[in-house]
Amino acid sequence: MSMAGATTWPAPPAVRRWTRMRADAGGVRSGGPPAARARRLLFDGRRSGWVAESPAAWRGRVLVHGAHKGVSSARGTAPAMAANGDEVKSIHSNESSKTLLKSEELYEYMLNTMVYSREHERLRELRLISEQHSRGFMSSPPDEAQLLSMLLKLTGARNTIEVGVFTGCSVLVTALAIPDDGRVVAIDVSREYFDLGLPVIEKAGVAHKVDFREGPALPILDELLSDEGNEGKFDFAFVDADKENYGGYHEQLLRLVRVGGVLAYDNTLWGGSVALPEDAPLKESDREMRAVLRAFNAKIAADRRVEAVQLPVADGITLCRRVV
Ligand SMILES: C[S@@+](CC[C@H](N)C(=O)[O-])C[C@H]1O[C@@H](n2cnc3c(N)ncnc32)[C@H](O)[C@@H]1O
Repeated sequence: MSMAGATTWPAPPAVRRWTRMRADAGGVRSGGPPAARARRLLFDGRRSGWVAESPAAWRGRVLVHGAHKGVSSARGTAPAMAANGDEVKSIHSNESSKTLLKSEELYEYMLNTMVYSREHERLRELRLISEQHSRGFMSSPPDEAQLLSMLLKLTGARNTIEVGVFTGCSVLVTALAIPDDGRVVAIDVSREYFDLGLPVIEKAGVAHKVDFREGPALPILDELLSDEGNEGKFDFAFVDADKENYGGYHEQLLRLVRVGGVLAYDNTLWGGSVALPEDAPLKESDREMRAVLRAFNAKIAADRRVEAVQLPVADGITLCRRVV
């Protein structure tokens, strides 16, 4: 991909590492890059080096919204000058694109300021265990866990469904957030992963809320649907497993989750690749996944049965509120 006057440079180490680990994972489709998980947020065309002028140019751009648009004045005032003669732009202006995801430093700042200091001791323990796993990149990052917790509490969720458990980070956050008589139906093809996290869930005193079901999610959700009593019984669902079936899960969950309930889908921005040009140098598996997620995003965008919002948190989270 090229832009006028643009050159490219290799993807940053975190992205390269992520790609390598994904390949090592041998077809595992979920998750994002390793290390600080939500660094994947920053994995957009510019940060990955596919479409950029130079690292130095990008560094300058992380400071000010809209700097990339090259607009020289904001709010109609004469441009202010920094000591080195560079123009100092307004943080907010009509020319700004209102997204904050412009630097890893900003993400670190958020984690250090608002996330780690409030992280439940057992969540931290499980996060650290999960990070040691060769597929640790699959677990939800702590800021995403914090968001889930807040959503569950705001919606007063009691009965929930999780598709894709891994070691149980999102299950634990859910079990901690719902009331004592609440229940998480937690579905994963691998009991082995779940068993790694189960001792921590037990130590947290919430294992009694977790109803783990081993197997592929589509038939298990069908099984739930075979009991009419389960229709509209659930308040919240978090989907974080095989992306190819997101569309199918959506149809099933729209029956299981009550009107007014929430369906949350993880990884819907797939490292920012959904917005990259067709010919961006992606691994074939990522190119396929991008197509899958683009199709899912289009489906949700057109689905009038839900109110939807897509958040640039972690690898992209789509929240759907069932309205009919
Ligand atoms: C990204 S991980 C889930 C991470 C978890 N939500 C967390 O926050 O730590 C995806 C999980 O989905 C599971 N999985 C993959 N395909 C599945 C399927 N068809 N049905 C159920 N689980 C599946 C994998 O075994 C893996 O544990």
